[in-house]
Amino acid sequence: MEVFDSPDSAREYVGSFRSRGQTVGFVPTMGALHEGHLSLVHSARSCDVAVASIFVNPTQFGPTEDLEKYPRTLDADLEKLRTAGVSAVFVPTKEQMYPDGFSTWVESPRIGETLEGICRPGHFRGVATVVLKLFQALPATHAYFGKKDYQQWRVIEAMARDLNVGTEIIGCETVREADGLALSSRNRYLSENDRERALLLSAALNQVEKSYVSGEARTEILQIQMRELLLGQQPTATNTLSDASGTVPRLDTLDYATIVSAEDLTPLTSIDRPVVALIAGSIGTTRLIDNRELQRI
Ligand code: PAJ
Repeated sequence: MEVFDSPDSAREYVGSFRSRGQTVGFVPTMGALHEGHLSLVHSARSCDVAVASIFVNPTQFGPTEDLEKYPRTLDADLEKLRTAGVSAVFVPTKEQMYPDGFSTWVESPRIGETLEGICRPGHFRGVATVVLKLFQALPATHAYFGKKDYQQWRVIEAMARDLNVGTEIIGCETVREADGLALSSRNRYLSENDRERALLLSAALNQVEKSYVSGEARTEILQIQMRELLLGQQPTATNTLSDASGTVPRLDTLDYATIVSAEDLTPLTSIDRPVVALIAGSIGTTRLIDNRELQRI
């Protein structure tokens, strides 16, 4: 497996496959790799060659966010990528991505202005900028993003379309623990007790899906159901997460629990098209997100 730290050498490597008409699948990451990331690599391997990047991008973290304590496990990450069949990894330094005098930005597309765009001002500007820069260094035919970060996937799709990036953007399903918790590099910060509470997110999504499948199509009602569960306001009897003492778990903060159009993330009063239920909130100092595309089976 090749490891490149300069954008020029990475571009030359990808170019050598592209010039022969071969497909190149690219998986951008911030490292601290888990099975969710590796499932994207697995999808990318349907191309002739799979490449990845590891870069903890400072410009997508807000001033009060966890940039400093973001986990950095480079050696283990490289080993996982090698074993997963990646041919080359781009691991730039901060100075290579943001040289002195750097001042050109990609503004977030409109789809990034709501939800995470409100909770994390400037986040998608940082994401869109770094992903475009990564696409310049690794001009792949296909790039793979997790639906775990649903809005991020949609932002990148819009950015790639709007700026004529010739890379096809592919959204991949969220990988979960057996009990439903979506894999995330930040899960490692959860204490045993907090990890239990983190199950509230997938439990709320299960519940909303169940209500929807049984015929409830009013988003207001579905949203109230999700919020009540997440904030511990449902009767203990109906709350499968309550413990033996009858304590009902709740998130410490709920940023949003909403149902929006899957295509453009706009609100709806009644579900008459494909939708996604999206949740963001915090347990202690750990911020968690999760979502579910709702389908009537
Ligand atoms: P990172 O959080 O490392 O995630 C890299 C990719 O893995 C993203 O596309 C993310 O959606 C996907 N991913 C994370 N958890 C997943 C899970 N449980 N199942 C499936 N996919 C999962 O997202 C970023 O990095 C950055 O914002 C980046 C796009 C690299 C730009 O800096």
